[in-house]
Amino acid sequence: MAKKFFIKTYGCQMNVHDSEYMAALLKGMGYIPTTSKEEADIILLNTCTVRKKPEQKAYSFLGRLKYQKRHRPLIIGVGGCLAQQQGELLLKRMPHIDFVFGTHQIYRLPEIISKLNKKGKVCETNFSYQLEPPKGVIPTFNKFRAYITIMQGCNNFCTYCIVPYVRGREVSRRSESILEEAKRLLDMGVKEIILLGQNVNSYGKDRREEISFAELIRRVGNLPKLRRLRFLTSHPKDLTLDLIKTFKEVGTLCEQIHLPVQCGSNRILKKMNRRYSREDYLKKIEMLRKVCPEIAITTDIIVGFPGETEKDFKQTISLLQEVSFDDIFAFKYSDRPPAKAVGFKEKIGEEIKAERLAAVHEVQAPITKAKNREKVGQRLEVLLDDYSKRGEMGLSGRTRCNRVVNVRAEASLLGHLVEVEIDEALSHSLRGRIIKVLD
Ligand code: SAH
Ligand code: SF4
Ligand code: F3S
Repeated sequence: MAKKFFIKTYGCQMNVHDSEYMAALLKGMGYIPTTSKEEADIILLNTCTVRKKPEQKAYSFLGRLKYQKRHRPLIIGVGGCLAQQQGELLLKRMPHIDFVFGTHQIYRLPEIISKLNKKGKVCETNFSYQLEPPKGVIPTFNKFRAYITIMQGCNNFCTYCIVPYVRGREVSRRSESILEEAKRLLDMGVKEIILLGQNVNSYGKDRREEISFAELIRRVGNLPKLRRLRFLTSHPKDLTLDLIKTFKEVGTLCEQIHLPVQCGSNRILKKMNRRYSREDYLKKIEMLRKVCPEIAITTDIIVGFPGETEKDFKQTISLLQEVSFDDIFAFKYSDRPPAKAVGFKEKIGEEIKAERLAAVHEVQAPITKAKNREKVGQRLEVLLDDYSKRGEMGLSGRTRCNRVVNVRAEASLLGHLVEVEIDEALSHSLRGRIIKVLD
């Protein structure tokens, strides 16, 4: 009987995409996927260490796996950012783990697993900067929307952030190979492509001969068969006017951007080493909305960064009111050694952080709700890319503005672009009726 694998993923979209590669590589080794970890022969965790919470979740999941191993042969591997950071320590701390592989070792998974028989435990966490995925491995959980990693790592060293330490320096992939991958995916029937990197706006800056990110958007965006393009994540300091203009020039580029601001106080932005001011940020928002009035803008917020006074915090609140984001992701600051802010004095107490987080949500919730309500009655293009998680509905998909929409529809419409009239706005999704099939 074929052996089965189960992968548990934490963290960002880059990790989700890395898990797609892990799954594809395991399939290539003859394993088949299972949704039940109890019947898996191999369990992989793809971990995140950007905040305390995902780290704690991974440890508690791993803790529970110990008991499973008592009853049957089971291989447990830990990859991703926590694995990169902890390395051998994970094997020492949790002896039921068989192997640890870092953020640059994913493509070597088959080789690493085969080493287990010869060596017992394995820990591989070198930064190899191998950017090209192995040939013939098709990493996609969804047949219609696919990710492409266009660069590794980050050079920004925001003082709160551990990512540059666990993902390494910024290295861009060659644009020709990105374009080849995109064409391959489109030939397989993919309709939407999402370009991924920690800071995609600085794509190509590390290679003198390489094109800019705006040019990459034009080239990928104009590929025949492509219907939709998105990218993730942008850093406000590197968001150029040239790139902003692509929202108007490139028809496939969806009207949506995630532009993390982190906070509204210039004093704190400086301590975070973000290298833009509140005014710079607001200017970029203004330019985006001028070029593309219907653009949906989302952001990340950190509350309780060391030294954040009530006055600083009020500026975050006023920024939220001023910008009116479509949605936000807000987090309490947590120390992530070896990030620099670990050494900053004036740490903010847990209680105040919790209060500030609640205040941020209180201000944003009605804005998000109003923005969703605006969609009711509108006719929007939706790519039906999955079965609906709401039982009574049939299929689900996303609008160009990246809202999840559930519709009653036959399974035969899966993978189609349709026009939907929005009937109802719920807190995290919309509901609507199909008006016509677009392709
Ligand atoms: N590369 C992206 C995402 C980085 S991590 C970017 O530059 O925006 C995703 C989010 O986690 C960040 O935007 C930030 O809001 C949050 N984050 C990172 N480190 C954190 C920390 N130490 N404490 C709390 N939130 C943090
Ligand atoms: Fe972290 Fe800043 Fe890099 Fe984003 S840009 S990954 S927040 S260091
Ligand atoms: Fe987490 Fe690593 Fe992404 S730390 S947010 S999984 S880059």
